Amino acid sequence: MSLLELDDVKVHFPVKKGLFFDRTVGHVYAVDGVSLSIEAGQTYGLVGESGCGKTTLGRAVLRLNDITDGGVVFDGTDLAKLPGEEMRAFRRRLQMVFQDPLGSLNPRQNIESILSEGMAAHGIGKDQTERREKIKAILAKVGLPSNALSRYPHEFSGGQRQRIGIARALVLEPDVIICDEPVSALDVSVQAQVINLLEELQESLGLTYLVIAHDLAVVRHISDVIGVMYLGGLVEEAPSDALYAGPRHPYTKALMSAVPVPDPEVEDRRERILLHGDLPSPANPPTGCRFHTRCPWVQETKCATERPPLLDTGDGHKVACHFTAEIEAGTVKQTLATGIEAVTGTETVAAEAVETAEGETPAGKPAAAGAPAEEPATVPAQADADATEQTEGSPKA
Ligand SMILES: Nc1ncnc2c1ncn2[C@@H]1O[C@H](COP(=O)(O)OP(=O)(O)O)[C@@H](O)[C@H]1O
Ligand code: SF4
Ligand SMILES: [Mg+2]
Repeated sequence: MSLLELDDVKVHFPVKKGLFFDRTVGHVYAVDGVSLSIEAGQTYGLVGESGCGKTTLGRAVLRLNDITDGGVVFDGTDLAKLPGEEMRAFRRRLQMVFQDPLGSLNPRQNIESILSEGMAAHGIGKDQTERREKIKAILAKVGLPSNALSRYPHEFSGGQRQRIGIARALVLEPDVIICDEPVSALDVSVQAQVINLLEELQESLGLTYLVIAHDLAVVRHISDVIGVMYLGGLVEEAPSDALYAGPRHPYTKALMSAVPVPDPEVEDRRERILLHGDLPSPANPPTGCRFHTRCPWVQETKCATERPPLLDTGDGHKVACHFTAEIEAGTVKQTLATGIEAVTGTETVAAEAVETAEGETPAGKPAAAGAPAEEPATVPAQADADATEQTEGSPKA
């Protein structure tokens, strides 16, 4: 049995209207039927565009969001149905590390106070002296000096603050840590250090991770298994290496095609799949296959009417698509433009990239987002109006 098993988890947020917000006029189907399992000591990487429901899923596991339906079985106990006070005991064993360390650390508390708060609440350490010793040991483990104890969050750099966030989870001796975009707010140079730290800690402490990211590059090396989410559901899941070697779902193919390859020759030949349109609203998701409004291979009727289940296509590589085999064999035709002729979207993408370069640090953006800007448009401007409306297939911050 896996340490953590999600069984058809749904989180639907009611949309309220009326003078007292007393009328439910619809739902946001943020998470809509996700099943996955995570083995003890392993890392499950969850990727997908912003807004596809990753954070909601992570929060649901900790019961920070109400679970509309489905099961979250942790170490044999279904947390979804656990009464509040029984859930408290499990809270310590499941911790979360957030994207924005500063936002999640109280600026008026020093580090000792921040880290001992949860320990005291969960009865860890018999007094503050014992807790302080333990905190010092954990600070050393995450690479922070022990004089950090009396300092305040604003005195640390972004990377150090994320180490404090990790330490705050570790002092509670959890089994599972859910890392929600753990490096998205950090400079690229610091991202790898924090990811390496997470890996080291996993090894020495036997931790189990759910790592959430919009950026495929972030989860690639740390994950044993990767799940790709689109609009509230998993569309593909596979061991990390298998997913990178051969993505099978059209959405994953598009995501992957946006990741630049270091080898310039391969990079030149790389076919880029650019998707039509934006992510539809989870309050009004498309019928049938949720991806059918943007899928380059969308086929008549079935795609728009039947939701494809996530099925094992061999070697634990699961795909939710009616036409996986046919797309692989090339026996179904692409019905929406993709690839090279769609690169006419370059101008808009390039403009976006320049904006990013001049404004905020691009750390939160996937490396791929700026990539087309460096590449000359390979296609003359023969685009039809439709093609110019296409947006890039890479996830957005
Ligand atoms: N508390 C909430 N109430 C209503 N809608 C929400 C709430 N939290 C998230 N959502 C919506 O659920 C969808 C998924 O959000 P989220 O889980 O944050 O996505 P991701 O982490 O993948 O970017 C979004 O459309 C978001 O606006
Ligand atoms: S089911 Fe149809 S629309 Fe969905 S991914 Fe497969 S081919 Fe595309
Ligand atoms: Mg999120």
